[in-house]
Amino acid sequence: MRKSLKLFRAIGRRAVFNNRIIVILLFVVGAFGLAASPGAAQILAEGQRFSPVEADRLMVVSEEAQATLAGLAVMREGGNAVDAAVATAFTLAVTLPRAGNIGGGGFMVIHLAQTGEAVAIDYRERATDAAERDMFLDEDGEASPEKSRFSGLAVGVPGTVAGLALAHERYGSGKFSLAELIAPALALARDGFTVTPELAETLGNERVRERLMADPEARHMFYRDGAPPAVGTRLTLPHLANTLEAIAENGPAGFYRGPVAEAIVATVNARGGRMDLADLADYEAVVREPVRGTFEGYEIVSMPPPSSGGVHLVQMLNILEGAPFAEYGLNSADMVHLMAEAARRAYADRAVYLGDPDFVDVPVAALTDKAYAGTLRSEIDMAAATPSTEVRADQAKLPYESDQTTHFSVIDAAGNAVSNTYTLNFSFGVGFAAEGAGVLLNNELDDFSAKPGVPNAYGLVGGEANAVAPRKRPLSSMTPTIVLRDGKPYLVTGTPGGSRIITTTLQVILNATVHERDIMTATAAPRMHHQWLPDYIRIEEGFSPDTIRLLKEKGHDVRIQNAMGATQSIMVGPDGTRYGASDPRRPDGLAAGD
Ligand code: GLY
Repeated sequence: MRKSLKLFRAIGRRAVFNNRIIVILLFVVGAFGLAASPGAAQILAEGQRFSPVEADRLMVVSEEAQATLAGLAVMREGGNAVDAAVATAFTLAVTLPRAGNIGGGGFMVIHLAQTGEAVAIDYRERATDAAERDMFLDEDGEASPEKSRFSGLAVGVPGTVAGLALAHERYGSGKFSLAELIAPALALARDGFTVTPELAETLGNERVRERLMADPEARHMFYRDGAPPAVGTRLTLPHLANTLEAIAENGPAGFYRGPVAEAIVATVNARGGRMDLADLADYEAVVREPVRGTFEGYEIVSMPPPSSGGVHLVQMLNILEGAPFAEYGLNSADMVHLMAEAARRAYADRAVYLGDPDFVDVPVAALTDKAYAGTLRSEIDMAAATPSTEVRADQAKLPYESDQTTHFSVIDAAGNAVSNTYTLNFSFGVGFAAEGAGVLLNNELDDFSAKPGVPNAYGLVGGEANAVAPRKRPLSSMTPTIVLRDGKPYLVTGTPGGSRIITTTLQVILNATVHERDIMTATAAPRMHHQWLPDYIRIEEGFSPDTIRLLKEKGHDVRIQNAMGATQSIMVGPDGTRYGASDPRRPDGLAAGD
């Protein structure tokens, strides 16, 4: 606790926002309940809305202010970017409960400044030992969304605690114990934190409320007499605090063994799942080789399978390389058409080839090969859309993916960088929490192809490579990415957004490289998405009517839908200045540096 107080005092010194120095004691007092400041996070975030935040040495960008500040405080106390990432991730599990988590899983890509190496930590959830290929089918042999999304069968063995512990042990500075990095999260869970407008709105959402109220533990966590917490009040999460304390005292064993593990297993099985204590005790995070590519003089370092993100990001960049970007311009009809045609082809490959590399041979080298991209590029007609039915004869279908993931980016003074995306899958995961332990559980196993060929919750169709199997990891779209220029981080980025994650990350990279936009403009620019099936271009508000008309003339079905993604990005200028941008699409995010 002493360390956590020290960390939060450090937060109070100052943070640089938008070239202005703002004393942020509001957060310190909010964290310890000395005074509540309604909407403080939002007010500060508004100040950085449309310009990047600048700093000389350190930068953290996340979807929630307290989590950003916890990471920044760790680096100010001498920790490196990995230490900061661990503190930010644990804090998000408290303050951003819809997606931050210890009951889910994710991916971390790390650039190590000293050696120039990069590593990818895979802490994706995995299926239990008792999982079966057809466990998400009903009596008629049809895919049952109820089973794959809302039952105990949907819950994968959580990977977050193992992943963060591994990152800390192997790549941390060695100056902080795991307990010290958990301390800010623990203090917030134990002593309470100020409810932001976004959190109040999320918990007040009728569908969320109905799901969470149906579970005694989730109800205990978030609702008093059935009502969501009001903006500006303090929310305490005592059961989660006890669990965080167990991890602080015993390391990952505090989660994967003993009372917390028993609570997870009992809750999952009471809901029809098939998890046992050995599933938890045996869980291991894996260090993998990142996927690499090059694009217009930049080097791309991203997440390999079981994420599809890095492979298809590199594949799309390969297809796009050499295009007349200056002539087309950002978000012109030709640029959107070209991106859609590249995405159509990449997502078609995703449906067939991608799965857990420990179970299937994923042809990563072939899919990221420049010559293969050249073949795909040669098939693109700039005047006319290619119907998706013509892209692949062997059509698999794509499953649905929820957009309630969260990303954060960190860079330290030495140039170590962390790009981390993790998730519970749906908002608040499966909608129930381990009884007595305050751990919201994921429904990540819906990312498997329940029945190869049938769409998942994101409309994504998957193939045999992503069929359910015991101990297998479901395919993901999460795309934590680091772009290097001359061997040093130029861009650290990633986003939530389900199937839209890969195209959103693609557009931020294009906007910040060949379209030469600053990182906030690159972030705010309206986004498009195509995923092969269903065959239409999804766009956000903000595209001109002329662009939409020209796309329709090329034969595209164009549909304006909700905002996509919530990127949390850092760009590094030629003089080393760090520019942070938290996506204005979500109100509680914060970029802060020093
Ligand atoms: N659950 C979303 C993803 O992993 O892509």
